[in-house]
Amino acid sequence: MASWDPAQYLKFEDQRARPAVDLLGRVDVTVPGDIVDLGCGAGNITRLVAQRFPGRGILGVDSSPEMLAKARAALPGARFVEGDIARFAPPAPPALIFSNAALHWLDDHAALFPALLGRLARGGVLAVQMPRNHGAPSHTAMVEVSRMPRFRDKLAKVVRESPVAAPAAYYDVLAPHAARIDLWETEYLHVLEGESPVVEWTMGTALRPLLAALDGEGERAEFLEAYATRVAAAYPKAADGKTPFPFRRLFLVATAR
Ligand SMILES: C[S@@+](CC[C@H](N)C(=O)[O-])C[C@H]1O[C@@H](n2cnc3c(N)ncnc32)[C@H](O)[C@@H]1O
Repeated sequence: MASWDPAQYLKFEDQRARPAVDLLGRVDVTVPGDIVDLGCGAGNITRLVAQRFPGRGILGVDSSPEMLAKARAALPGARFVEGDIARFAPPAPPALIFSNAALHWLDDHAALFPALLGRLARGGVLAVQMPRNHGAPSHTAMVEVSRMPRFRDKLAKVVRESPVAAPAAYYDVLAPHAARIDLWETEYLHVLEGESPVVEWTMGTALRPLLAALDGEGERAEFLEAYATRVAAAYPKAADGKTPFPFRRLFLVATAR
């Protein structure tokens, strides 16, 4: 998998933190146990989770050594381990499994979500936020450009067209195992500054694997130019020079039986 660049990802730290704060606002943990942050990234959100539930053991899991190095520096009191979420097996059943903007990188949600719920202590909580903006131009433009004849052979296997299902699909797989489920979507209107801020935004996340699969700076520049042209047309600047960027996200909070 393409490596993560914490600096590029954190360019929009405030906007990316907002959904995690909104998710935390709906989480109540009433049973004893540790807290796990899956796909903890640079640890900036892990810190918010730790502050919200003081006194609990905190474990962050991520597959990126670059992100984990930042996380360890940001939160020395927590434990961070390198690993794949798909194979996550906690040492003891946690009271909360939290995951912000990470699980859309994994496949087979119909198996993954009930499995995560099953790893919790009885009465424990699974709290997840995932981007569901894959039908918007920021993401459809990526798919469109990756299908151009000069890119499609290299990118066909890398592009992820709709990694997050409709909310009801998560209800269906979790309901048989959950005591309570809270599911919702929010479309934020991020207001971004800079020349091509939507391209900068996706370069920190969804574009990474595509750019990494291309050969050399020339090919990457060609891809980015075709992508940036489409994105500029889809997200015009407002009169003040800023770029309003609508972005849809899916949230779920499920309590284990
Ligand atoms: C968009 S970042 C979000 C980081 C953090 N949760 C936040 O909200 O700032 C996604 C993170 O998920 C991690 N990730 C993606 N797939 C993973 C997997 N299969 N196992 C472990 N970590 C994964 C990446 O390394 C990255 O740090």
